Amino acid sequence: MTKFEPADPTTHFPPDFVWGVATSAFQIEGAPTEDGKGLSIWDSFCRQPGAIADHSNGDVACDHYHRWEADLDMIADLGVDAYRFSVSWPRVRPSGAGTWNEAGLAFYERLVDGLLARGIKPYLTLNHWDLPDELQAGGGWANRDTVHRFVEYAQGIAARLGDRVASITTHNEPWVMAVLGHENGVFAPGIKNRATATQAAHHLLLSHGMALQALRAQGCKARLGLVLNLSPMHPATDSDADQAKAVLEDGRLLRWYLEPLFKARYPQDVLDDLGADGPQVEAGDLQIIATAMDFMGVNYYSRSVVSAAEPWDVHSSGREVTDMGWEVYPEGLTELLVRLHQDYAVPPLYVTENGGAFKDRLEDGRIHDHQRTDYIARHISAVAEAIRQGVPMAGYMVWSLMDNFEWASGYEKRFGIVHVDYATQQRTLKDSALWYRNFLQQRRAQRRQRQAV
Ligand code: FCB
Repeated sequence: MTKFEPADPTTHFPPDFVWGVATSAFQIEGAPTEDGKGLSIWDSFCRQPGAIADHSNGDVACDHYHRWEADLDMIADLGVDAYRFSVSWPRVRPSGAGTWNEAGLAFYERLVDGLLARGIKPYLTLNHWDLPDELQAGGGWANRDTVHRFVEYAQGIAARLGDRVASITTHNEPWVMAVLGHENGVFAPGIKNRATATQAAHHLLLSHGMALQALRAQGCKARLGLVLNLSPMHPATDSDADQAKAVLEDGRLLRWYLEPLFKARYPQDVLDDLGADGPQVEAGDLQIIATAMDFMGVNYYSRSVVSAAEPWDVHSSGREVTDMGWEVYPEGLTELLVRLHQDYAVPPLYVTENGGAFKDRLEDGRIHDHQRTDYIARHISAVAEAIRQGVPMAGYMVWSLMDNFEWASGYEKRFGIVHVDYATQQRTLKDSALWYRNFLQQRRAQRRQRQAV
């Protein structure tokens, strides 16, 4: 195991730096049809033979829809400042259009009020992948109409909760929805068509910008932003072919999102590569996409090593890898954050997801997940280093609060700092959770001491 130097919690991080834990609706809630909820594309995707590694689905997951109160107590017990969660669109508006579901809205209202009562800031995400199934029947994200349905959804949630949540994120990881969902077909909705994926990506970005404008127009007080999954692309060798490939993959994963968001244009090299598969963009779209954000979230797990000889895999392995096969590479997080700061006029940045899946063993009521603790501590140090280099960092959130439904991997991969026994729904804090809690306690104690001097 690699030794880590935990970052000094007082000197490296600004006083208002936000520490949190993250989840998403489909991965934890269960209750797919309860109290009037509509189905999402993930409910349907799970039913496709072979789509999910362990043939599981989200029907029960962590049963959070019923256990939310005890889960909020557990979050409070960790001593975090913030909880990042998502709203299930089909729970609050079952068909994605038309009638709203009061029972669904009331659930999220209880959740938000429950967080506030425990002194925890709610960080709300509108779209963490679970599009209402009925919208998919009409073409989903490839159909420009979905953009308008999303704006209505955003407005409805902001009208109900915008006065109490600390922030609203429009989308979580548009690249994953567009490319894994519509080009590779390994995630919902399971389409394999590059032109469809490109159009979906454009509509996700457009709906983000339109939602920001609509929420500001309605006086929403919450801070507004977007979350991207980003990872540095390193060529496998110095060969011209590998380097050229790394530049193009960097274009597809990073610049395809960063350039329109911050420079109101798509990167020309990626457009050239797409040729006829490029998106249909209407006049004014790019200006809308470039609407200023109050913050941006970065989900970071690994770097990517790119070779011209092989199709690019999301996270090629090099050194130590997690149970996902993703290389542990904390210095890539510093590199990425510094680049964002240098190349783009980024607003305050959060690491909105970071963590690792490892094979955990429950022994006498304990889970000694040293590798996860080591992973988290080293990435926190990488954030500290980015701050030292001048990057405006606002927060860090661990993925994930608890083990949950890890999409196409089902329940086989465990990312939680809290262990979930799926047979009994018992939650057990892993050593990584105890470490995180202790780290946050230390930070508070040291701050009090400083203030007293
Ligand atoms: C991210 C997702 C999150 C989780 C982690 C491991 O891509 O946003 O829901 O599955 O990966």
